[in-house]
Amino acid sequence: MAQPLHRCSDCGATSARWAGRCPHCEAWNSMVVDTPPPASASPGRRLGAAARSATFGSGGGTRSGALGAGQPGAGALGGAVPIGLVDSALAERRPTGVGELDRVLGGGLVAGSVTLLGGEPGIGKSTLLLQALGSIARSGARCLLVSAEESAAQVRMRAERLDRLHDNLWLVAEADLERVAHAVVEVSPQVLVIDSIQTVALAEVGSPAGSVSQVRECAAALTALARDRGMACLLVGHVTKDGDLAGPRVLEHLVDTVLSFEGDRHMSLRVLRARKHRFGPTTEVGLFEMAGHGLAGVPDAGALFLADRQPGTAGSVVAAALDGRRPLLVEVQALVAPTSLPLPRRSAQGIDAGRMAMVVAVLHQRAGLNLSGQDIYTLAAGGLRVGEPAADLAVACALASAQADRPVAAGVVVCGELGLGGELRQVSNLAQRLCEAARMGFTHALVPANSGEMPPGITALRATTLIEALAAAGLVAGRSRPAH
Ligand code: TYD
Ligand code: MG
Repeated sequence: MAQPLHRCSDCGATSARWAGRCPHCEAWNSMVVDTPPPASASPGRRLGAAARSATFGSGGGTRSGALGAGQPGAGALGGAVPIGLVDSALAERRPTGVGELDRVLGGGLVAGSVTLLGGEPGIGKSTLLLQALGSIARSGARCLLVSAEESAAQVRMRAERLDRLHDNLWLVAEADLERVAHAVVEVSPQVLVIDSIQTVALAEVGSPAGSVSQVRECAAALTALARDRGMACLLVGHVTKDGDLAGPRVLEHLVDTVLSFEGDRHMSLRVLRARKHRFGPTTEVGLFEMAGHGLAGVPDAGALFLADRQPGTAGSVVAAALDGRRPLLVEVQALVAPTSLPLPRRSAQGIDAGRMAMVVAVLHQRAGLNLSGQDIYTLAAGGLRVGEPAADLAVACALASAQADRPVAAGVVVCGELGLGGELRQVSNLAQRLCEAARMGFTHALVPANSGEMPPGITALRATTLIEALAAAGLVAGRSRPAH
């Protein structure tokens, strides 16, 4: 059979094989089939285009198609249409059926979109996407899972364990992207998962899978395929220790949505965040627990995080934190112990180390609490991370409580940012934070003096300065009681 000829629509260079990027002028997604090839030949843009007209007709699945460019009449000029005539049907969301994932996606997956799911190895990316695909398959849409890391048998076993076997869920264990594209054309899925983008490769790129050029080319080719077919595509990407996507950050620009899946592998809690999202806010946070039967959503985070708390312990303070838009009550713990080290230890787990150092200095200079010569440990219980300044006051109270060996009263929740002058500063969305505290049975909130009204069930302990706050919490003898 004759090889199809691929021609770059930018520079006109030809190539026997399809590529995501023109080998001559390096333009992206410019290679198109020049002569009509046999049906089983190279896929990529040609097959994408064929499937596009079959599936979507003039409404189109390409970027221009999604804008209704193919629609005749109604005032269209040179492919442009008045914005009100743009077909928005393609921007509809398909729920994944995994509640916490849908929450972060703003309802579900958008047709033709590309989502990158990043996370450290072993965090649960494959599990999450298998669960999502299983649910989507059950809801009647066809899904294709491309496993380029695990064998088909391994994935099947996991699907069985997760109770996600379904006839609509197709599986191919394949790392060659040309063959993956063939499978896509054959199966014609509405949702495609590539696990992972670092283990698939296009032969003509020449470099090994996982290299910057491979990852980029493969992602570009898959993006074109997803757009052409109006198929939602999810890419798994492994991240390095410091949280960067292994290889190119350029991937983040290419895709519509970047999700990161985080957590301590030794703990069951997993946090899903959107770092970029073209179809919704990036403020929603999804919470999961890794259990024996996969990931379980944690709709009621408060109950989970406070379950192991021992009220009445010195050094333990509950902070009213906010992760994205989600209020979270976090137990902040501190331990202060005499040291034999010339340079005392400063350990912060889940607490921003820079902010802890600042809090320690402010405690020293503005509240007369000297912690030098002591080892200091702070942590956010449950594997959570609190980076926001609104947790400053909780960290300060936990340290003062640990130092004085005096607990903070059990019903008190703490919220406030600390200035370098020892003043307390207001925090955002206080009412929302404190409503969650009230729901969890807290009765008092230690807050900056000029905070607004308290929600029902919460009595304010207002303080202008750190030293007033420590006095209100019963941790030091106050110089002056708060005015209110
Ligand atoms: P996995 O989804 O393979 O992680 P990733 O794709 O991000 O590398 O999940 C890894 C861990 O999850 C693995 O160590 C085992 C654990 N796990 C469970 O605890 N319960 C389960 O039901 C499943 C499927 C996995
Ligand atoms: Mg995996």
